[in-house]
Amino acid sequence: MLMLVLASVLFCQKEVVSFKNFDFKIETIHSLISSGEYNCTNIVQFFQSRVVKYNPMINAIISNNPIALQQAADLDNYFHRNKKFKGLLHCVPLAVKDNIDVTGIPTTGGIKSLRYSIPNKNALVIDRLLAQGAIILFKTNLGELAFGSRISEIVGECMNPFDSERSCGPSSFGSGAAVSSGLSVISLGTDTSGSVLYPGSFNGIFSLRPALNTTPLDGIIPLFEKADTVGPFAKHLDDLVTTFSIMAQNDSIRNEFSNKIPLDQLKIGVISNFVDNLVHFVFGSKYEMDQEVKLAFERTINRFKILGLSVQEFSLNKTEFENLFYLLDNMFDSYVQCLISSKKKSMDYYFGDVQRFESDSPFRTFEQLFKSKFLNDYWREDFNISLILANDQSECNIFDLKVEEMKNLIFKWYEQHDLDCIIIPTSTNLPDIREQKEDSDFLTSAVFFGILTGLPTLNLPVGFSEKSENAPDGLPIGLSLMSKPDQLNKLNKMEITPMTELRSLEALNQNPKELKKDIFAAMSIKKIYILKGRKAAIY
Ligand SMILES: *[C@@H]1O[C@H](CO)[C@@H](O)[C@H](O)[C@H]1NC(C)=O
Ligand SMILES: *[C@@H]1O[C@H](CO)[C@@H](O)[C@H](O)[C@H]1NC(C)=O
Ligand SMILES: *[C@@H]1O[C@H](CO)[C@@H](O)[C@H](O)[C@H]1NC(C)=O
Ligand SMILES: *[C@@H]1O[C@H](CO)[C@@H](O)[C@H](O)[C@H]1NC(C)=O
Repeated sequence: MLMLVLASVLFCQKEVVSFKNFDFKIETIHSLISSGEYNCTNIVQFFQSRVVKYNPMINAIISNNPIALQQAADLDNYFHRNKKFKGLLHCVPLAVKDNIDVTGIPTTGGIKSLRYSIPNKNALVIDRLLAQGAIILFKTNLGELAFGSRISEIVGECMNPFDSERSCGPSSFGSGAAVSSGLSVISLGTDTSGSVLYPGSFNGIFSLRPALNTTPLDGIIPLFEKADTVGPFAKHLDDLVTTFSIMAQNDSIRNEFSNKIPLDQLKIGVISNFVDNLVHFVFGSKYEMDQEVKLAFERTINRFKILGLSVQEFSLNKTEFENLFYLLDNMFDSYVQCLISSKKKSMDYYFGDVQRFESDSPFRTFEQLFKSKFLNDYWREDFNISLILANDQSECNIFDLKVEEMKNLIFKWYEQHDLDCIIIPTSTNLPDIREQKEDSDFLTSAVFFGILTGLPTLNLPVGFSEKSENAPDGLPIGLSLMSKPDQLNKLNKMEITPMTELRSLEALNQNPKELKKDIFAAMSIKKIYILKGRKAAIY
C-alpha cells in the first residue's frame, strides 16, 4: 500500500510549489493560505513531495494517508465558502505514531500480526486535532508495540536526520524524525518511559510528555496504563503548546502561554552535583554522562542566568543520591513486573471495543493476538508470560507504593527550594550508533525518575555536539524540564503544570540574536545532512 500511495503521489503531481525559507510553523502555513497565494492542496503536495524525496533516507513512515489530498480539497472548499479557517490547525500537516488509531488506516503497532488491524474510529486525540483542521499525512515508524528501541519488523529502522549512522531514539522515533526533517509540522507520539522525550532530544525538536491523565489514551494500543501518555512534537514551542492544548481540550493552556511573564518569575531548579554523581549502576547498566551533553547542560544553565531566569542551584548529599538511585532501581523491578501482568487486561480492553473493530476483525482479544501465526518470537514469549501472570497484580501494588515514595522525594525538592521545575539532560548520551543499539540501554537517562512519577516534562532542544564527518552539523542535544504539579499537597493527583515554564521559555526566543543562537540553535538550522558524505538542504 505504501508503494502505491507513493507512486500515486509521484505520478499525479505535475508541479509542486516550494516555499522559500519555509520555517515549518503553523502561523506561516496560515499566512500562505490567507494571502490567497497558496491553498491547502498546494501545502499538502509540498509535504508529500518531501516525503517522496527524503523519507527513503530516514525511514520515518509506515503508511501514508491515501485521502490526504481529498481532505485538503475539503479544507480549501471550507475556506472558500466560509472565508475563515476551520480551526487552529487548519491544513497543518500531522504525523501520527502507528499505535494510535486513525479511521481506515491500519494501526500496526509496528508488528506484522497487526497489518490488517483497521480501526473504524479515530483515537480521541485524533478527533480533537481533526476538528481543528489538521491533516494527517502519514502514520510513523515506531518501536514494536511502542516498546523501547525494538526495531519494527514492518519497515525496519529509522535513520537519524542528522547522522544516518545513528538511531532516531526509542519508540516514537518516526514521529520525532518526521518533524525534524520537515515531513510534517507536528506529530504525535506515546511516552511510557521516555518514548516522546528521547526522540525529541535525538532529533533536535521540542517534545512534551504530558502529566498522567491529561491527554486521553482512548484508541491507542496500550503498553502500561499506569505510565502511558500521548504527547506532541514540534519544531516551534508555540506550535507544541497549541497542539497540546487541543489534545488536552484545555484552552487556558494556550491562553496562559501567550500571556508572557517576566523571565525572573520562572524558578528553575538545578541539582548542581547531579551530573557528576550520575556514574551509578542502576538497572544493571551504567549511568554515565557524555562530556558533550554535560557541556551543553552547563552552557544552557549559564545562558539562563545571563537571561535573568531565576536559577536555583542546590546539591544532594551522598545519602540522598544513594536513596534516589536505590529507589529508582527498586521501582524499576515492580515497573516491569506490573507492566507484564497488566498487559492482558489493557489489551483486551483495546481489542474488545466493538465500535473500534468490525466483528470480522482479526483479533478481539489479547489471547487471539497471542495465537497469531505472524507473531514474532520476541512477542510470543513476552505475551506468554503476560498471560501466565495476568492474575497476579501484587507487583502493581508495590509499584504504586514506590511511585508515592518517589513523588515524596521529588516534591520535597520543589518545596525546599521553591521551584517551578527542575532541569536535567533528557538523555545522558548522544543518539546511539545504530549497530551498537542492542548494547546501549535506553533507560540510561536522567529523565527516568520524573517519568515514573507522572510529572509533566518538556524536552527543549539546546544545541549540538561537535561537528564530525558523519554529522556535519553535530548531533542534537536536549534538556528536560520536569515541572512541578499544581498542588504539592495532593500527591496522588498529578495535574498539569501551570504553563508558566513554557511561556517563559518562549520569551527567551525573543531575546538578542547571539543568546538565541545557543539556546535555540536547533531552531535555526539551515540544513540537515542526511546521508554520510552527502549534503541535502532540507530547509
Ligand atoms: C489550489 O491551487 C491550485 C493552483 O496552485 C489550483 O490549481 C487548484 O485548483 C486549487 N485547489 C482548490 C481545491 O482550490
Ligand atoms: C543529607 O541530607 C539529608 C536530608 O536532606 C539529611 O537528613 C542528612 O543528615 C544529610 N546527610 C549528611 C551525611 O549530610
Ligand atoms: C508458555 O510458557 C510456558 C512456561 O514457560 C511454556 O511451557 C509454554 O510452552 C509456553 N507456550 C508458548 C506457546 O510459548
Ligand atoms: C487547564 O489548564 C490550566 C492551566 O495550565 C490548569 O490550571 C487547569 O487546571 C486545566 N484545566 C483542566 C480542566 O484540566
